[in-house]
Amino acid sequence: MKKVIIDCDPGHDDAIALLLAAKSDTIEIIGVTTVAGNSELYNTTRNARKILDYAGYEAIDVYAGCDRPMMRDLFRLTGAIIHGADGLGGPNIPAPTTPIKEEHAVDYLIQTLRNSDDRIILIVTGPMTNIAVALQKAPDIKDKIDRIIMMGGAVIEPGNITSAAEFNVFVDPEAAKIVINSGCELYLVSLDVSMKAVFKEDDIEKLRSQGDKISTTVASLLDFFAETHVKHFGFKACPIHDALCVGILIDESLVEFRKTYVDVPLHDPLTLGETVADLWEITGNMPNCHIAMKVNREKFVRMICEHMKK
Ligand code: BDR
Ligand code: CA
Repeated sequence: MKKVIIDCDPGHDDAIALLLAAKSDTIEIIGVTTVAGNSELYNTTRNARKILDYAGYEAIDVYAGCDRPMMRDLFRLTGAIIHGADGLGGPNIPAPTTPIKEEHAVDYLIQTLRNSDDRIILIVTGPMTNIAVALQKAPDIKDKIDRIIMMGGAVIEPGNITSAAEFNVFVDPEAAKIVINSGCELYLVSLDVSMKAVFKEDDIEKLRSQGDKISTTVASLLDFFAETHVKHFGFKACPIHDALCVGILIDESLVEFRKTYVDVPLHDPLTLGETVADLWEITGNMPNCHIAMKVNREKFVRMICEHMKK
């Protein structure tokens, strides 16, 4: 079993990422940590708990983490436009009943990694605040991190929050810079692939027609998500960005990567939070990141449908 901690800000695609990991036969979720991003921390934490309880995973613990980026105010504009006022608009999922753990997510991450005999995979599907703070506070945990798979960035395609930047990196660019330059084995699942691995209307209908409780609920989440994509971005297809980070653990042939040097500019408003890759290898800097180049959309759609009905 691959042991993972999922650090997330649910969010529709985060919620589906949680379900995909929970339902996978080859992934063991050690714990879930939450961060402010798609919505305020209260909502993202509640949403993580809500989706896990709804799907019968009460035993997976949820820890609330940082309620704002390291050095900036929380960017409040688009999260609500895309994910709804509480971060998980659409189906009426019952309120969670399992309590949130009391320990802060950053302390939980540090203690769990330090005390683990095995190296743990971190899947990061929100702003990288919790991971960056944990790495700053306890650099020794690097030895226990098998790899970090993070949804973020846009290397070749445009960003989705500014022309240059993707949401998760833009919200906390200082944190992203720390994580990307941490020396950990890093996989960047960016908009370059997630915007190509979309669910189309037919795919959502196929998922709904499976008829079980989770497939039907996820189809309703995607209805909402597709609708907000039409309103905000002008296209009706649904990227499930965050679930791709889990998908590559289930089937590594899903996404092709290339290792290169990446950094995050912090000072120019036009490029703030961009993930700039040294594709032509002109800097002489050592590659620090596997960047996603190509994705198999059909395989991803099939994987989501098969897992949701499990
Ligand atoms: C990322 O931003 C959020 O809206 C999604 O949950 C995803 O993690 C895509 O840019
Ligand atoms: Ca997310």
